[in-house]
Amino acid sequence: MLSEQILIYLFILIQLIVAQTDTESDAFTLLYKKNLQDVIKIRNVSIDPCDNFYRHACGNYETKITNSNNNDDVDEDDGDTIPPFLYNKQDRMDFFQRQSINFQTLPGQMLSQLYKECSQTEKDYTFLDQVPGLREHKEVLEAWPFLRHQWERRHLNGKLNWLSLSSQLASQGVPTLLNIYFAEQTIYITPIDNLPCPTTQEFQLSLVEDLENRHHHVSQVIGNEMRILCRGMRGELPMIRSQLRTLEERVSDNKDLHLDENMMAYFENFFSHLQFTHRELQRAKKLPLDVTKIAQAWLVLKETEPRIIYNYIIWQVKQKFKEIQENCHDLTTEFERLLFAEYWQWHIFEPYIKRDVALASYHLHTTKFYQKRRSQLSRRDWLGYLWPKTMEKQELQLAKILQTYAQSYLNISQINHHFQEVKFEKNSFFYNLLQLRQSTLRFSFHSPYLDEEDPQMPAYFLRHFMHFVILSLYRPTYHYYATQGLSLWLQSRLLEDTDGYYSALNCLEQQSLQHSDDMYRQLSTKEVQNIFNFYRGFVYSLKDYQFWLQGERFAFAENFILQYFNLNTEKIMFYAVVQQFCGRQDDRFSTQLNRVYMNIPEFQYAFNCDSKQAMSPSTKCMINQCEINEIKKK
Ligand SMILES: *[C@@H]1O[C@H](CO)[C@@H](O)[C@H](O)[C@H]1NC(C)=O
Ligand SMILES: *[C@@H]1O[C@H](CO)[C@@H](O)[C@H](O)[C@H]1NC(C)=O
Repeated sequence: MLSEQILIYLFILIQLIVAQTDTESDAFTLLYKKNLQDVIKIRNVSIDPCDNFYRHACGNYETKITNSNNNDDVDEDDGDTIPPFLYNKQDRMDFFQRQSINFQTLPGQMLSQLYKECSQTEKDYTFLDQVPGLREHKEVLEAWPFLRHQWERRHLNGKLNWLSLSSQLASQGVPTLLNIYFAEQTIYITPIDNLPCPTTQEFQLSLVEDLENRHHHVSQVIGNEMRILCRGMRGELPMIRSQLRTLEERVSDNKDLHLDENMMAYFENFFSHLQFTHRELQRAKKLPLDVTKIAQAWLVLKETEPRIIYNYIIWQVKQKFKEIQENCHDLTTEFERLLFAEYWQWHIFEPYIKRDVALASYHLHTTKFYQKRRSQLSRRDWLGYLWPKTMEKQELQLAKILQTYAQSYLNISQINHHFQEVKFEKNSFFYNLLQLRQSTLRFSFHSPYLDEEDPQMPAYFLRHFMHFVILSLYRPTYHYYATQGLSLWLQSRLLEDTDGYYSALNCLEQQSLQHSDDMYRQLSTKEVQNIFNFYRGFVYSLKDYQFWLQGERFAFAENFILQYFNLNTEKIMFYAVVQQFCGRQDDRFSTQLNRVYMNIPEFQYAFNCDSKQAMSPSTKCMINQCEINEIKKK
């Protein structure tokens, strides 16, 4: 059954690859060429790989970067200054930036416009003109933040209402005092996670621009007031006895949220902005979480001057807008569903790769390898913990599952229908952002809850699939495996108490004692953990890569191109992985990666290391007997 399926996929894949035009295969060759040129340029051939691989592989990194900076126009391959760690994210950002002008769907175009406005909006926070709930009070707000005497003199108590401001902002996706979110006919009510609460000095510092011409005591007073408020809301200040009593009354059964009049007003206003029908609201499940904390925070609010709360809300909004403007690219993560809805329509991928090809090749890259690998590995293997057994069946139909899932989750007619309600204003980034957030919030009320980090969920694979497709437009196949190893390493929650780990600890220590070379220095426990984790991650991605090479007929192209650069499939993964780290904490990573590689027999084999050289210790660590036998068989 399984092999039949794989055969079918292979067949499709080969058909499709064959059908690709010459220009595409040119692009493919170019991709390899450009990447391999980098591999070559970054290394320093004066250093023998068997003496110190890290220094060999990264030896020219700094020089190369400085050089290509100096003659930008001459050097054809730009973009070398990218920190290697960020390759994949950087590729995705780059892809989005280049392609967003070509987006063709409504959600795609909205996101594209928002991103453009975000990067173009002046940094002087013109948000007072744009935020509904604030722009009505623009003139008064020029004098923000308010001291008590200002507030009283101008009779602001009647004018500026923190409850209606905060609830309106929350309905636009900017929660400041209480968090309300939805999933499929359910309303969740929670305290704000990590309510922002810097020190008084940091508050003061953040107010510098707003208080330019005022006495420095003002910022001290206001900073202090906000600090007391947020600490109180976070439950960091002791409560007085009468408060405690009220609190206990309110959360007696610790399940139901007791609504005081403030909260009632808040909810009423919040939901009226979202325009749910009465029926929808009534039928929805309401799930308050962490009731005690909410009750306590709102008790503090009740006993705080409205002026201070108002100051604090505006302060939060300013901070949040500032953050977004500094990282406009975060919009693509926030509105990922809209972005993927555009991507899934495939307009912009079409010239590079067909959707069927992409799906088939993703299927091969995940299912086949993990399946095969798992059949060879014992259940105790840590990878088994990363990939629960229950997933095996699901994975077999990955492409089909993905397709079905995307068709409903990214249902373009449904998304178009919902988001056509959003009316953007020209050059009004903050206004548009809030409109889109509000609409997204409304949309989530009708969507099932998703945990995209959960590898049992199709959402997880959908994201990985999208990333995979973009990666394959920027990097050769070996790079995919190299980064897979890296993410395995970073994510692995290693079984630190296993025998494997303790014997590694022991063995690495022995190695340190037996050698005098710098790279054999004593390791900290944390370093041993990292080395052990990294070793496992690397070995598996190396196996995947080799498996891919054996399994695919067109992998001969890989060998062919590599040869041209005096490289081969035995060596390339070692370079590809190390070079992701060059120029980034070299001291730390050179030890870690060298200590990993020297314990992998494939390394000495690939680089033909002499047993006297530093990178070939006579006894190897972290390797188990079965694996040694496997290598001997080869
Ligand atoms: C390459 O390595 C050699 C030997 O260690 C060293 O002398 C040289 O400066 C290195 N080149 C660069 C560009 O760092
Ligand atoms: C997509 O949405 C439309 C309109 O909401 C609906 O009629 C259709 O059945 C949906 N298709 C899928 C595959 O969910």
